[in-house]
Amino acid sequence: MAEQTPRSANITWHHGHVSAQQRAKVYGHPGMTLWLTGLSGSGKSTVARALEAELVSRGAHAYVLDGDNVRHGLNRDLGFAPEDRAENIRRVGEVARLFADAGVICITAFISPYQADRDRVRALHDTLSFREVFIDTPLEVCEARDPKGLYKKARSGEIGNFTGISAPYEAPQNAEIVVHTDQHTLQECVAQIIDAIGMNAPTT
Ligand code: ADX
Repeated sequence: MAEQTPRSANITWHHGHVSAQQRAKVYGHPGMTLWLTGLSGSGKSTVARALEAELVSRGAHAYVLDGDNVRHGLNRDLGFAPEDRAENIRRVGEVARLFADAGVICITAFISPYQADRDRVRALHDTLSFREVFIDTPLEVCEARDPKGLYKKARSGEIGNFTGISAPYEAPQNAEIVVHTDQHTLQECVAQIIDAIGMNAPTT
């Protein structure tokens, strides 16, 4: 994993002139990160996209960072060993923090299997709002869905280090929001998250 302190010397932090309150007033909501975590096939991306669409249709500024997509660009150099996943989550956590600081509702959809990695992202957010959203879909259900055929490949050994099969998933113990995609419709799951973040309340 990359070092904790910057490698470069002689760098200074610059503060801007726009407060979080000013941004919230303009956008109608505060910036925040909704950190979705769950197994592959749990429905993270589906919930994230539907949530993003619903929030944007209400005039909110929402944007999804998705694991598969980010691994095509920013994190194309990373694989699935624990240290690569840690670096994946560290970088995405930094990007999410910037989005939240900019006043955006940043919705992330990464397996992010390690509690320590998720905790680091939470700590990084400091005074910015960060909520862990556990997409709590049982492994059997994810494996039965197998939307990308990856569980089959993981079971046959064609893919190694596969979360839930040959690599661990540490379920969050204290997630702010727990979503059961196997028991509720997509619309219900989206409504549950929107309720939980208070976006149903009128903005002043
Ligand atoms: S994370 O563990 O580092 O958070 P991330 O969410 O970025 O993972 O990427 C997960 C996606 O990569 C899965 O949805 C799946 O499509 C794909 N993938 C490919 N190989 C693996 C693997 N060994 N374990 C988990 N997901 C994998």
